[in-house]
Amino acid sequence: MEYSEKVMDHFMNPRNVGEIEDASGIGQVGNMKCGDIMKVYLKIEDGIIQDAKFKTFGCGAAVATSSMATELVKGKTIQEALEVTNKAVMEALDGLPPVKVHCSCLAEEALHAALWDYAQKNNVTIEGLEPPVNDIDEKHHHE
Ligand code: FES
Repeated sequence: MEYSEKVMDHFMNPRNVGEIEDASGIGQVGNMKCGDIMKVYLKIEDGIIQDAKFKTFGCGAAVATSSMATELVKGKTIQEALEVTNKAVMEALDGLPPVKVHCSCLAEEALHAALWDYAQKNNVTIEGLEPPVNDIDEKHHHE
């Protein structure tokens, strides 16, 4: 199995690790199969994601994909952030080995769960956003 240089970089030096104290939205998602857990914090002001942080009890690929995902959503609008899918994150990392694709889903789902939390707290509807799952197995059966 081989990891791209970008994956290794984001694994060794993950960006945005930590939590945001007054986060606008927090999402947590697990993956029952591997037991990994991902938590994402978002600071949203005027519809723009001002800051994003994550904490994970997860594998190296989960660390690298969350690091990249949080980097990509910073400064974006909520709608733009929805386009930061696990595929977009994997592309930005120059790919992941097929057995690690589900790890990138963990990052995407946690991000969506944080957006959902924000929407609930602020009584807004985010078009195209589905209710979050607690475990990615509930959604990504095929992976
Ligand atoms: Fe569980 Fe990667 S092995 S998230």
